[in-house]
Amino acid sequence: MDFYEAVRSRRSIRNYTDAPVPEDVMRRALNAALLAPNSSNLQTWGFYWVRTPEKKKKLVEACLSQRAARTAKELLVVTAEPRRWKRNRGRMIEELDRAQAPKFMYPYYEKLIPFTYGFQILAPIKWILFNLIGVFRPIVRRPWSPRDREEVSIKSAALACENFMLAIAAEGYGTCPMEGFDELRVKRLLELGFGDRVVMVISVGEPEVSRGIWGAQIRFDPKEFVREC
Ligand SMILES: Cc1cc2nc3c(=O)[nH]c(=O)nc-3n(C[C@H](O)[C@H](O)[C@H](O)COP(=O)(O)O)c2cc1C
Repeated sequence: MDFYEAVRSRRSIRNYTDAPVPEDVMRRALNAALLAPNSSNLQTWGFYWVRTPEKKKKLVEACLSQRAARTAKELLVVTAEPRRWKRNRGRMIEELDRAQAPKFMYPYYEKLIPFTYGFQILAPIKWILFNLIGVFRPIVRRPWSPRDREEVSIKSAALACENFMLAIAAEGYGTCPMEGFDELRVKRLLELGFGDRVVMVISVGEPEVSRGIWGAQIRFDPKEFVREC
C-alpha cells in the first residue's frame, strides 16, 4: 500500500470481526515499530504482545472492557521504560567501538547522557545550571528531572506506536490506540518497573464493516494548526 493511502485508511477501530491476524503481519508491524526514531537512540521502550488467553482477559478488563479491546484479536502494550537508558548507553558505546566511529561521537554517550539522565539527586542544580548557561547561549534545557526523562521516553514510544499502526493499516488490518486503561493494573499484569509508564494499549484486528468505524474522520481546519512563519 502507498504510504499516503495507509495514512488515510488508518482509523480507530472499535469493533473487530472474528478473523485472526496472521502472526507475520504482527511481526512485520513490530519490526516497523522498532525502526521508529527515538531519543539518542537509547530505545527506552517496551512492546508487550499479550498473547496468553488469561493475560489477554486481564488486559481487556484493565482496558475497562471497552469494545475496541474486547473484540480485538491481538493486543499490544507499548511502554516507556526510562530506566533502560543506563544499559543502552553502554551498548551504544559498544556499537560505536564496533563501527569504529569517529572520536567526537563518544562524549555524547560518555558525558552528556549520564549528566542529563543520571545524577537525579542533582536535578535542581542541573535546572539552575541549564538556565544560567541559557542566559548567554542556546542550550538544550531538558531533561533535567526524572519527569523530563520520562517525557523523553514517552515521546519515542508514541512514535513507535504510530509506526506500528501505520504498518498494520498497510497490511489491511485495523488498530485502536487506547489510553482508557487502568495503568496500575496493566503494570502489575506485565510486571513493569516502578518508573515505567504504559504509553498506549493498541488493539488489532480486521475492522467490522458496520460498527468498526464511528463515522467520518473529523479534523478541524488545518489553517488553525499549520502555521507558516
Ligand atoms: C493517545 C490516544 C489514546 C486514545 N485512547 C482511546 C481509547 O481509550 N478508546 C478509544 O476508543 N479510542 C481512543 N483513542 C482514539 C481516538 O479517539 C481517535 O484517534 C480520534 O478520535 C481520531 O479518530 P481516528 O483515529 O479514527 O482518526 C486514542 C487515541 C490516542 C492517540
